[in-house]
Parts: sequence; structure tokens; C-alpha cells
Amino acid sequence: MVQSTGYSKIRTAVFISGTGSNLKSLIKFSKTKKSPISIDLIVSSNSKAKGLNFAKIYKIKKKVFNFRNKNSNENNLLSLLKINNIELICLAGFMKILSKNFIQKFKGNILNIHPSLLPKYKGLNTHERALSSREKYSGCTVHFVNSKLDSGKIILQKKVKISKNETSVSLAKKILTQEHKLYPKAILKIVNF
Ligand code: GRF
Repeated sequence: MVQSTGYSKIRTAVFISGTGSNLKSLIKFSKTKKSPISIDLIVSSNSKAKGLNFAKIYKIKKKVFNFRNKNSNENNLLSLLKINNIELICLAGFMKILSKNFIQKFKGNILNIHPSLLPKYKGLNTHERALSSREKYSGCTVHFVNSKLDSGKIILQKKVKISKNETSVSLAKKILTQEHKLYPKAILKIVNF
């Protein structure tokens, strides 16, 4: 895993596609003294992503790639990451699947947050699936990214109790609050600062 020298923070890119509430919590965390990371680049797969506003608010470089031409977009993205000396990538609500080649190039240095207790409910619609399976608990997971969807080594998980009248909306909200705390904790766990 990426090592910090203790002198400078680990240069990190956050990849988003939507609201960016996890991005916001990571930016806030990055500004604390205990944070081993700095957020130096925001990459979005969607030019209309609300989360892109945080680039402006916090004066962070941003770039949009729509990934329609995945190969060339990923090659350009890899150059951009190199130019900006990015050492760590945090996926946060990023709705595109990165190629094997891309993941290889950044091996061990891509993290993702997923709104379920993996290995349960990989992929989309996790809350609906947890509810229709009558689960008593759900939660969120931060894991390393490998070439299989939502299957890399788990770093940390947070369990959340599903209440009696839970809906997918209320469950998503409950879990998202926990996600905002879990991602920074997971980063602290894997980086020696
Ligand atoms: C989060 O629940 C994340 O786990 C999932 O998509 C949601 C993104 O939320 N992959 P946000 O864009 O960080 O607000």
C-alpha cells in the first residue's frame, strides 16, 4: 500500500459521478492535521455531477471524462494522474467500471466505498435487495479495487440495523451518514503516517 514519508501528504484523486457527499467528507478529512492524504484532483464521469461544485468551493482541480471511448479516456486519465503526481485514487459514487489495465497500473492504490456489507449485494440497488431479502442489518464497506466488481480486499465495514419500517430511501440515508465516517477511518487504517 501507498506509503507516506511523513513529510508530505499522499496526493489523492477522488472519482465521482453524482452528488459527491463522500467527496465532501474526504475533502474535510484531508484538511485535518491527522489526515495522511490531500485531495488534489476530482475526476467525474458526468459533467452534470453535483459533486463537481466542490472543486470550485475548495479550489481543487477537476476533469470530466465521459468514458464513452474508454480506452482513450483511460489513457488520458492515466497521463493526468501522472502529471499531478497522484498516488492514491478514492472511488466515491463512481459509476463506471475501470479496465483491468487501468487497475493494474494503479495496483493496490485504488479504494472504493460500497453501500452494503460485502460480499453481500455487489453492484447496484443494494438497499432494495437487502430489504427484499429481509436482512436485519446492512451497512457499508471500504475495500481495495481489483478487476472484479466490488470484490477486492475489505479494509473496513460498518454495520447498520434495518428498522421495522425501513424504506430503501431511509436506509440509503442512514448508511450514507456512516459512509462519511468510514472512508476516512479506512484511509487511516491502511496508511502509516
Ligand atoms: C454512496 O452510497 C456510495 O457508496 C455509492 O454511491 C453513493 C454515492 O454518494 N457507491 P455520494 O455521491 O458520495 O453522495
